[in-house]
Amino acid sequence: MKYLNQHAIITGGSSGIGKATAKLLAQQGANISLIARDRPKLEIAQQEIVAATVNLEQKILIFTADVAQQPAIQTAIQTAIAQLGSPELLITSAGIAYPGYFAELSLKVFEDTMTVNYFGTLYSIRAALPAMEQREQGNIVIISSGAALIGIYGYTAYCPSKFALRGLAESLRGELKPKGIGLTVVYPPDTDTPQLAAENKIKPIETKTITATAKTWTAEAVAQQIIQGVALGRFVVTPGTELTILNRFHSLLAPLLNWYFDRIVKKMNNE
Ligand SMILES: NC(=O)c1ccc[n+]([C@@H]2O[C@H](COP(=O)([O-])OP(=O)(O)OC[C@H]3O[C@@H](n4cnc5c(N)ncnc54)[C@H](OP(=O)(O)O)[C@@H]3O)[C@@H](O)[C@H]2O)c1
Repeated sequence: MKYLNQHAIITGGSSGIGKATAKLLAQQGANISLIARDRPKLEIAQQEIVAATVNLEQKILIFTADVAQQPAIQTAIQTAIAQLGSPELLITSAGIAYPGYFAELSLKVFEDTMTVNYFGTLYSIRAALPAMEQREQGNIVIISSGAALIGIYGYTAYCPSKFALRGLAESLRGELKPKGIGLTVVYPPDTDTPQLAAENKIKPIETKTITATAKTWTAEAVAQQIIQGVALGRFVVTPGTELTILNRFHSLLAPLLNWYFDRIVKKMNNE
């Protein structure tokens, strides 16, 4: 049990990928702090995760905070650390996605998406880092997206926020390494979660057609890849062959993919 008595803090831990990862960590003996905005949803997740624990000593705590509000997320993470100790893992999974046509999305959607996905991750890392630095141990896991590896039609608000996380991960990794702190950035593919279901209701038809070509993963399978990747000390986790190839060769593949996407969009517009 790799995480026996270790503390894992998971933003966005009440649903989808964050919750599935919390369950796997509970099975490995971890004490877990789940952070999200909606308390009833957190309480349901807490019950599910308690059911996955393997000993009576394990603690599964919940904290309500909006990651976009720096003082709130800082307080939540500091309280979690005061109760369960410096985190062995900080997983930043809280995120939002609103697909739509660029000209039709309100500026607020662009601003909110960047604030939650990028700054929410940044604020969480800043809040947990001092404790990790003091202990000279810990791993930060940033949940970005496959949409950080290539721009996708209809995702003009979401892709830049996930690209920004890629930049943060790539520039921060080297600073943390000498301090004994690991960093992993995850680029999940389409994953069957409430977020994806909500996106599917509002995606432009072109986006639906483009994204329909990719396989949808389960949150459990993505969580498994995250835990394995962290255990192996991987900097990048790309579940599946398609994203692994895209991550390695995106600059070479981008012209071909853009040609393919344009062909789909043209076909849609002619219909
Ligand atoms: N599903 C996919 O296809 C997919 C693919 C690639 C990447 N991702 C990324 O994976 C991460 C998890 O997504 P998911 O699909 O698992 O989504 P999900 O099931 O909707 O879960 C999102 C979680 O984030 C929390 N959250 C959202 N906004 C928040 C905020 N401002 N402050 C605090 N917590 C917040 C939600 O709880 P509350 O709403 O109660 O706050 C929930 O716990 C996201 O960063 C997403 O962009 C998802």
